[in-house]
Amino acid sequence: MLVTGGAGFIGSHACVDLLDHGYEVIVVDDHSHSTPQVLNRVERIAGRFVGAVYELDIRDRRALSAVFDRHSVDAVVHFAAHKAVGESTRMPVQYYDNNVGGTTSLLSAMHEHDVRQLVFSSSCSLYGDTGGGPDGGPLDESTPPAPVNPYASSKWLCEQILADVCRHWPELAVLCLRYFNPVGAHPSGLLGEDPGGTPDNLMPYVAQVAVGRRKQLRVFGGDYPTPDGTAIRDYLHVMDTVEAHRVALDHLAGESGMRVFNLGTGTGSSVLDVITAFGSVSGRTIPYEIVGRRPGDVARLVADASAIGRAWGWRPTRDLSTMCRDAWHFQRLNPNGYAGSARRPGRRE
Ligand code: NAD
Ligand code: WQD
Repeated sequence: MLVTGGAGFIGSHACVDLLDHGYEVIVVDDHSHSTPQVLNRVERIAGRFVGAVYELDIRDRRALSAVFDRHSVDAVVHFAAHKAVGESTRMPVQYYDNNVGGTTSLLSAMHEHDVRQLVFSSSCSLYGDTGGGPDGGPLDESTPPAPVNPYASSKWLCEQILADVCRHWPELAVLCLRYFNPVGAHPSGLLGEDPGGTPDNLMPYVAQVAVGRRKQLRVFGGDYPTPDGTAIRDYLHVMDTVEAHRVALDHLAGESGMRVFNLGTGTGSSVLDVITAFGSVSGRTIPYEIVGRRPGDVARLVADASAIGRAWGWRPTRDLSTMCRDAWHFQRLNPNGYAGSARRPGRRE
């Protein structure tokens, strides 16, 4: 199994889950947004080694092709991408180049080596500011994509390219998973989300306030048409997220064509719900101030993720309290994230 972006937040948890379930795992990551030390922790949790780790940019076609030459790869889980919405509006070309160019480079190496199974990390962000399905209810996969920033557009472009490539390469099986809001951490506290600099996203920001790294949270918008006035999202535990990938891989063998599934819990939580749940599991007060809305945010984004359950039986099992508990455990054990963690010498390609 080749995992691109395997040292990142979701990729590292996926590596643990895959190793735990007997898969041989090869990682490719340029560490533009991760640290190689993470993979030592992956190995520590799993009690097994990652087969090989290649520090390379997946757009480097020769280097990527050489990885496929060296290993017998039967499937790819493709996490590698840049993911910061705000940054994408300032660096649109870099986002298209990395996210779309990385995906076409990967497809080219897969085609050259006749690798026919791919799981692609897509995003609820491609639904844009749709803000809820019919009657404001959960969004299912039939909701027309309407991306409103270059990051989201890059994901939608990748999906369209993948769909077209599937039409012309009939043996290829692709699964696009549109994640809603993956959060939380591995229950060991060894792996979690470690955004460099100031977190853009809610859960890591709340965790850093709880641990004392930041003074208070700014709640973006208290005047949404929601019960408490703050925006509602569908938070999904990262372990539930990665388990869906493994379930998918178990089903992709022998399939062909492209499928698209939402990944969420179907339950909406407001910003204040998250603050309350985090405060309760951590025993810390989370100081916050309600400020103006963040541009581009919508009031409510909740998944109808029942399709993957009907097709393959995946259902999330961890609730918001568990997400906060595990995020807190990681943050408490690693107040400064992965900074300073030990690196095992001699295991990198
Ligand atoms: P992350 O930034 O933690 O991980 C991405 C990893 O990919 C990093 O280790 C980075 O160094 C690597 N990478 C980036 N570009 C690369 C390249 N060209 N070559 C090699 N490696 C490269 O992000 P994440 O949260 O783990 O997200 C994983 C995937 O899931 C991304 O595709 C992201 O768009 C998607 N996604 C994430 C979320 C979320 O909220 N975290 C939601 C929806 C979709
Ligand atoms: C959640 C809520 C904020 C920070 C993002 C991407 C999306 C996808 C998932 C990749 C919102 C509020 C946040 C803070 C706050 N990622 N908030 N104070 O925006 O739903 O989705 O991650 O594909 O593309 O856009 O997640 O965690 O940033 O925000 O009040 O300091 O928390 O306004 O209502 P979002 P988020």
